Order: sequence, then C-alpha cells, then structure tokens
Amino acid sequence: MNTSTTFERQTGSVARSVDDLAEWLARHLSPSSHLRLREPMSRRTTLRVGGEADLLLEAGTEADLAEAVRAARSRGVPWMVLGRGSNLLVRDGGIRGLVLTLNQPYFSRIEVHGVRLHCGAGARLKDLSAEARRCGLGGLEFLGGIPGSVGGAMRMNAGAWNAAVFDRLDRLRFMSAEGEVQELPAAQVPFSYRRCDLFRNHIALAADFVGEPSTPSEVEARARDLNERRWKSQPAAPSAGCIFKNPAALPAGRLVDELGLKGTRIGGAVVSDVHGNFIVNEGGATAADVLALIELIRTRAREVRGIELETEVEIIGE
Ligand code: EPU
Repeated sequence: MNTSTTFERQTGSVARSVDDLAEWLARHLSPSSHLRLREPMSRRTTLRVGGEADLLLEAGTEADLAEAVRAARSRGVPWMVLGRGSNLLVRDGGIRGLVLTLNQPYFSRIEVHGVRLHCGAGARLKDLSAEARRCGLGGLEFLGGIPGSVGGAMRMNAGAWNAAVFDRLDRLRFMSAEGEVQELPAAQVPFSYRRCDLFRNHIALAADFVGEPSTPSEVEARARDLNERRWKSQPAAPSAGCIFKNPAALPAGRLVDELGLKGTRIGGAVVSDVHGNFIVNEGGATAADVLALIELIRTRAREVRGIELETEVEIIGE
C-alpha cells in the first residue's frame, strides 16, 4: 500500500493511536488501497474549505475497508466515510482520526444488467445517470445534476426535481462498524426526506438502481431539460449544494431571498445571488466564514419569520 507524506508525530494518546494505526495500515493493506497523511479537506470538498484529516484511506477493496474499520476501532481511533465531499462542511481545525473514501476503481464500478444498474458506493451519480442514458433507461435523469457519489446520496437520500435516491433503489449492500457486510432490499430500509439513519453507523458499499425502459434519445432529452433548469436556478461557483433543508413553511431559498440576504458576504463566503439556499466560495473562504454566514441566516430567519432552519449540509471536524 502507498503512503503519501511523512507523518509527523503528534502528542497525546489519540495522536499516538493514529500514528500506530497509520503504520499498521501501511503494512497490512493491499496495494489497491492508498493512505494519505495530513490530507487537506479543502481538496476533497466541493466547497473547497476545511482543515487537514489526520489520516485518509482510499480503500481499494471491501476486505481492506473492513480491516481498516476494525483496526481503527481496536485503537479507539474515530473514523468516518467521505463521499465526493459535495454536501460537507469541514471546520478549519480538520478531522481527528481516520477518513475513509471509496473513490478507487472497485467501488466506482457501474454494471448494467437489464433494467438494473449495479454500482459501487464510490461511483459518481453523474456517471450513473450517463450510463442509464446510454442504455436508454429512464427515471435516473435527476441524478445527473447532483455532484455526489452513490454512497453519499444513499446516506442522505439525496434528491432533485421531486425525485430522490430511495425512489429508484432496489437493493443495498453495506458494512457495519465491526466490518460485517450485509445486503437488504431497499424496501426494508427506513428513509425520509434527505435522511436514511442506517448510514449513520453503516458504510454504504454498493446499490442496485432500477431504471425504466425508454430510448436513449428520450432519456437524453429529459436529462438535457433538467440540466438546463439546474444551471438557470443554481450557481456554478464552488458550494456544498443547498445549505438548509426546506422548512415546512416555504423553500429555504425563497426565505433567504425574502429576507434580503442574497449577496451577503463574510470573508470569501457569499450567499449566492442566483439561489438563496447556496453559500458559494468566491475564493479564499474559510469554514469559519461559511459557518458565520449560516448563523447569520438562521438568526434572521428566527427573528423575522420565527422559522428554525436546519442545515442540510453535514458539518464536521474541529
Ligand atoms: N426561490 C426563490 N429565490 C431563491 C431561490 C428559490 O424565490 O433565491 C424559489 C423558487 O423560485 C421556487 C422555490 O423557491 O419557487 C424552490 O426553489 P427551487 O425550485 O430552486 O428548489 P429548492 O427547494 O430550493 C430543491 C432541492 C435541491 C434541488 C432542487 C431542484 C432541497 C433543500 N433542495 O431546491 O437540492 O437541486 O430542489 O430539484 O431540498 C441539495 O439538496 O443540495 C439541492 C441543491
């Protein structure tokens, strides 16, 4: 297995456990896994902010992933799974412990069997949507505009244009915190709007999506239409997608717009002029800038409209 940089020893028992874990992983995992030390999360998130993760493992196989989870657990090192970093805000102090990511070829595979698409959790939704289009399978066009991975989208039941991932999921494969692998029909897994609790303590490994027989040109036309609507209504600058879940009263974007907060800036973070529920990094933003802007919006929504906004973006790190 490969390690990228020299790991400088830290003080404290967690730091020593992380050191020990790094050495163990470097010796025991297969060559298809890659270990990165002190990896800046600004490189791994679409918002382009966030401090360093102590250790980041790009797992190449399920066996390596299970070994890593068990090794971290036995050393008391916290771990988390990173998708494509498109719905994530990492604080500037970074992440203590191990970050696992499934961007290697085994986890990025997409295989078509009739109307079913079997894909690894690390596959990009954009690639899944493109593959469905190529095969003339409809119903997955909405995934093309979501900048995440299959696993990340399962974790939060991501959606767009009145469709969500669990509408199209047939079967799930996942790993427990003890490294045990299990499969379940999607129908047996509870989910709701932007939420699937199973993945709070399990790692998504793979999924079967089901498409509807159509023709490549029909699917292409629908995908193009959604893509155009997206680029008209959402900003192209680096962001983490929608910052807040839509409250019951009205869409969060409209609320921010009505509060007159579009264009509000803190440091390099700006409330998008295009869509009020997006905070964009106009260059050099820190996580602290983004968090301050989130708090400003929440306070105004509470004071002016009595609405408690809940973040959709996941906020982690120190
Ligand atoms: N609106 C405004 N001003 C704004 C933004 C929106 O008045 O600045 C109005 C729109 O005109 C529309 C309504 O608010 O009448 C809703 O806006 P939009 O159609 O853009 O949908 P949304 O509810 O803001 C949701 C998802 C998006 C997804 C779009 C398209 C959530 C929190 N957001 O946005 O998902 O792409 O629908 O289907 O559910 C994400 O999850 O990260 C995300 C971007």
